[in-house]
Amino acid sequence: MRHATIIGNTDGIGLALTRRLLSEGWAVTGLSRRPATVEHERYVHVAADVTDPAYPQALSRALAAAGRVDLCVYAAGVGDLLDLADLAAQTRAIEVNLLGLARTAEVVVPHMLTAGGGHLVGLSSLADALITPQAPGYAASKAGMSSYLIALGATLRPRGVAVSTVRFGYVDTKMALGPVKPMMITVDRAVEVLMRCVRTRPAVVSYPRRMALLVRAAAPIVRVRARRSR
Ligand SMILES: NC(=O)c1ccc[n+]([C@@H]2O[C@H](COP(=O)([O-])OP(=O)(O)OC[C@H]3O[C@@H](n4cnc5c(N)ncnc54)[C@H](OP(=O)(O)O)[C@@H]3O)[C@@H](O)[C@H]2O)c1
Repeated sequence: MRHATIIGNTDGIGLALTRRLLSEGWAVTGLSRRPATVEHERYVHVAADVTDPAYPQALSRALAAAGRVDLCVYAAGVGDLLDLADLAAQTRAIEVNLLGLARTAEVVVPHMLTAGGGHLVGLSSLADALITPQAPGYAASKAGMSSYLIALGATLRPRGVAVSTVRFGYVDTKMALGPVKPMMITVDRAVEVLMRCVRTRPAVVSYPRRMALLVRAAAPIVRVRARRSR
């Protein structure tokens, strides 16, 4: 039976993906701070915080208990709009999104290499290409995530381990912040895109494509504006 480990799955995209994988016959281990929001005979939940120094051991124990890891999806994430009175919230985004991913890879990749295969998927964002004064920690964490995942994938792919960077625009969860959310997709659509990614294992998925093209066109302009602002 194929086994997936989903990090960040009590809510949003991770939760919907967990349900979908279970419905398709996978065994799933989920890890989040809150208790399980899924009950299923093929589901095991681990309550852990990816910023906790004990997280790598907790993940390691979970992988050992599962016996195998065919797929690991890093869906844990936070993002707050900039509040100059609380820069710690920006630091948190970097800790959870980027460092949490790096800690996860630290544990999961050796398992996959030993097994001779596996698939690591990280939920980055189209925001990885943008300088975002409204949420600098989030944008920096996503730029770091994409860079890390793509580089790791280039090294691991010839050794049988696939790494996919998934760059969504807006997805309809509590994470989607801001007054305007152009081209927002449903969580179900996001899960369809992820399931295709699980089947085809591409290095990068950018979705929706039209939003990705707009972001690519806007990125240099946004960058120049941010540098010139006074
Ligand atoms: N929604 C969007 O518009 C959008 C767009 C592009 C990319 N993304 C990315 O997709 C990923 C999932 O987003 P989402 O929309 O599904 O967000 P969400 O609904 O807020 O879910 C985030 C999940 O992360 C978990 N989490 C947060 N902090 C954690 C921590 N310290 N340790 C362990 N788990 C933690 C949460 O569970 P607990 O609270 O139980 O820990 C929750 O299950 C994020 O990386 C996000 O940046 C989202």
